[in-house]
Amino acid sequence: MKARTYVGAIDQGTTGTRFIVFDHGGQPVANAYETHEQIYPEPGWVEHDPEEIWENTTAVIRRALDDAGIDASQLAALGITNQRETTVVWDRESGTPVYNAIVWQDRRTTDRIEALEREGKDAWIRETTGLEPDAYFAATKAEWLLNNADPIKLQRMRPEDVRDRARDGELCFGTIDSWLIYKLTGEHVTDVTNASRTMLFDIHDLSWDDDLLAEFDVPRAMLPEVHPSSDDDYYGTTDPEGFLGAEVPVAGALGDQQAALFGQTCFDAGDAKNTYGTGSFMLMNTGEEAVASENGLLTTVGFQRSGEPAQYALEGSIFITGAAIEWLEDLTLIDDPAESEALARSVDSTDGVYVVPAFTGLGAPHWDQRARGTIVGMTRGTRREHVVRATLESIAYQTRDVAEAMTEDSGIELTDLRVDGGAVKNNFLCQLQADVVGTEIVRPEVDETTALGAAYAAGLAVDYWKSPDELRENWHVDREFEPDRADDVEERYGRWQEAVERSLDWARDEE
Ligand code: G3P
Repeated sequence: MKARTYVGAIDQGTTGTRFIVFDHGGQPVANAYETHEQIYPEPGWVEHDPEEIWENTTAVIRRALDDAGIDASQLAALGITNQRETTVVWDRESGTPVYNAIVWQDRRTTDRIEALEREGKDAWIRETTGLEPDAYFAATKAEWLLNNADPIKLQRMRPEDVRDRARDGELCFGTIDSWLIYKLTGEHVTDVTNASRTMLFDIHDLSWDDDLLAEFDVPRAMLPEVHPSSDDDYYGTTDPEGFLGAEVPVAGALGDQQAALFGQTCFDAGDAKNTYGTGSFMLMNTGEEAVASENGLLTTVGFQRSGEPAQYALEGSIFITGAAIEWLEDLTLIDDPAESEALARSVDSTDGVYVVPAFTGLGAPHWDQRARGTIVGMTRGTRREHVVRATLESIAYQTRDVAEAMTEDSGIELTDLRVDGGAVKNNFLCQLQADVVGTEIVRPEVDETTALGAAYAAGLAVDYWKSPDELRENWHVDREFEPDRADDVEERYGRWQEAVERSLDWARDEE
């Protein structure tokens, strides 16, 4: 038998699935990626096919291992990290999903959230879950699925039987981590960070909340068991007869933003990171204290190791940042994301143009489900370079909006911010981010910090890594961007805030 030399991490994101194998130094030694279909059945609806996600997961694992000549039996553990909130319901026996996964960006339950707000239930939900009531979270998606799941996929079940089967535990609810762990090991479990994004979970007691379950009529019998993010007892082990052909403990799971916090080794209160993916998610570790936000941030579970108290985080969730660059590509304003940097640099300013990419409403700190994308300040002289630059600037401004809220809530002045995700390869964006927030931006050498965080959680659980200190030694700076504050930065930020005002509540009369 070969030595257990590596740890593998599945990073199941909004646009695709990646598998990375890390060595003991936290360096990637194998990597494969596959995108999946984005399904838009109606305006504002976003779905994924859970079966396709599972097939892609097996495909990327196989490809990465084959390409690097690594045998699955050399993996000491597997970690999983995932797009959060995206909701799947499946048949426990057959493993067949009853419907597509409803993606975190999906807005179909906006009315239900507004009804909760009218009924004055928002304060209760905020206190219990740490979340701002929004269609973003899993609770109303699960409720919708139980009310509307396709009876044909449910093996000729009548729609009215769906809830009964859920009550009898014959259906499973889960976020993508649960779905993948179930497929890998047969166990129906989740971790505290993913549970904390459902709006069904009491983040103080770390348990499912009966009153919330009653509110959304989600039967407890369909919920996964909640484990620490780094689980010494393992979520389960892969079946040696299964596709991996080896028995590997699945021992770590975290939602992708919490995984990036862990991968950036933000283990202490006050440590913060910002990840630039489809959206951007800035998290600050607040230690064992769940700090309630007064400025539109979320309170969420950061991570938990077996036998230790949970660490909490404040989170600024920005729905659209990297996706705004993709949108530029869709509009054929750029040929590929890398071109945005050169085009933005080719002009001195946006010439007064502001882009607010509120395509799926606005998240932190505004929380307006009916906000929509807005471009203001265009003249006859506006060129695509200005729009491209304004789109990149919107990423930096949105981050400043949440950074200010974070300083207010935590009382901690940010001195530096660790960044990761696809868009941080763009040096222009990193420098702009430093200038606009007025904080040093630090980019680490390994930019796949999300997968790394999941690997770390799994590796700590099986003693592959002995302690967080060992992980800190793996973290190295690639480049630091010092703020260079131009005279007009405050004025431009003020104009940005005015542009945001224009986008708020835009779809109110449309519905
Ligand atoms: O909360 C949504 C977030 O987890 C999605 O992350 O990286 O898939 O865009 P990403």
